[in-house]
Amino acid sequence: MNKYQLFIDGQWVDSESGKTFTTPNPATGQPLAEVAEADKADVDKAVAAARRAYEGKWSKMSARDRGRLLYKLSQLIEQNASQLAEIETADNGKPIKESLYVDLPQVVENFEYFAGWSTKIEGETIPVPGRMFNYTLREPIGVCGQIIPWNFPLLMAAWKLAPALAAGNTIVLKPAEQTPVGAMELAKLIQEAGFPEGVVNIVPGYGETAGAALAAHPGIDKIAFTGSTEVGKLIAKTAANNLTKVSLELGGKAPNIVFADSDLDQAVAGAMMGIFYNQGQVCCAGSRLFVEESVKDQFLGQLSERAGRIAVGDPMNKATQMGPQVSAEQLDRIKGYVDIAREEGATVVAGGATPHLDGPFEKGYFFTPTIFADVKNDMRVAQEEIFGPVVSVITFKDEDDLLRQANDTIYGLSAGIWTRDITRAHRFAKEIKAGVVWINTFNVFNAASPFGGYKQSGYGREMGRHALELYTQVKSVWVDLSGRPIGWFGK
Ligand code: NAI
Ligand code: MG
Repeated sequence: MNKYQLFIDGQWVDSESGKTFTTPNPATGQPLAEVAEADKADVDKAVAAARRAYEGKWSKMSARDRGRLLYKLSQLIEQNASQLAEIETADNGKPIKESLYVDLPQVVENFEYFAGWSTKIEGETIPVPGRMFNYTLREPIGVCGQIIPWNFPLLMAAWKLAPALAAGNTIVLKPAEQTPVGAMELAKLIQEAGFPEGVVNIVPGYGETAGAALAAHPGIDKIAFTGSTEVGKLIAKTAANNLTKVSLELGGKAPNIVFADSDLDQAVAGAMMGIFYNQGQVCCAGSRLFVEESVKDQFLGQLSERAGRIAVGDPMNKATQMGPQVSAEQLDRIKGYVDIAREEGATVVAGGATPHLDGPFEKGYFFTPTIFADVKNDMRVAQEEIFGPVVSVITFKDEDDLLRQANDTIYGLSAGIWTRDITRAHRFAKEIKAGVVWINTFNVFNAASPFGGYKQSGYGREMGRHALELYTQVKSVWVDLSGRPIGWFGK
């Protein structure tokens, strides 16, 4: 079993308390790694180290050199991609096909993309009247606390670290307690790339202790969080005490909409991508599947048949399409929603149970691809984020009926639409209250394209040039060019 210490000030150290925790492999339930458990005292040390680095070497380094370090890191990750993918799959349970061909390439892409931005963060000159010259400086925010979830452990680390570092901030990152291993492996590569000590500090630990201490720390200038809406609200309240700047990427309950005029084969494949990818543990998952009434039976028939054929099992096997859920808690939560669905009057037309797997996988946290039909949009299973391979199918009559229901949610992260009518597709893109809209596709990402939520799905946009807004602040500088005294109070 691998052991990991905390990564603070460029050093590997035990936690002040000496405590450690064990993270299981979700496919088997067996221990995977023993990790030092950070608490408030360790967070204090990490924030102090990040402050020293910010005031010291990091702020003196040229933007070009910062960019080169980020690029070096992207190359090191690429060189180690197959091992990192295996680690990610062992820690999170996602199929190796996803870790290797999606997560890791996107991690590399994000570091590469933001490496390029380092030298392109610029101020402006403003055409103010009279004798004044006015310009802006776009400066880093300072020390950033970053708290990330377990569904895309390495990719979430990349979304947070890459833009913050490109902009010249220093960081204390807290990975999720369910999946700390990838971030610790990343720390080794950060060290190897040659980042100055203290620029990136990584403190694995629990949310209620290490996470809460980081969010409440008066020594951080900004807190960035991805996770549940519930904890997002806590973080926003805590941050309010010090007026720490906040960005939040929270839950979703995305409508994925199938019109009768769509190519049904494409729409079925898109519905599966929308809800079964990464075991449904995706904030932008298409968990409310709206299907036009006239094609409901045909669509549901095809979807159930294909869902039943999804290969669930050993995530290290390249043929596996769905691995285990991340933890026993998440699995229980999902099972709970199957009971709720039945009580509310929905029909379980596929899945809804744990699969029978043999050998080492008998104790893994597996669940079958699940479809609820006869769902009404006001049921709990249509309003609450389940975060599993569980989709609620809701029918609609026409565009007005659809739009009213699709927007009737506290969330607004993403939406999908399947139609051959180009004007309808764009009308919908304009009317839906969500931060990302996919037309005849789903779950497409690129480091250059912004991602984030409307409504209770969060504040701010990650990736693309918009992410730099989260990690920079603007200073306005005024210069009097006239050389004359200010005349306001006379001579
Ligand atoms: P969570 O929001 O509790 O955990 C996410 C991160 O926040 C972890 O690093 C955790 O240690 C930290 N955290 C937890 N409590 C904290 C606190 N009081 N102060 C500071 N940091 C804290 O999510 P959890 O409990 O793992 O999952 C529950 C539900 O949250 C899921 O079923 C899903 O609905 C949602 N979720 C959404 C995610 C997204 O990508 N938007 C990711 C993970 C969970
Ligand atoms: Mg929690």
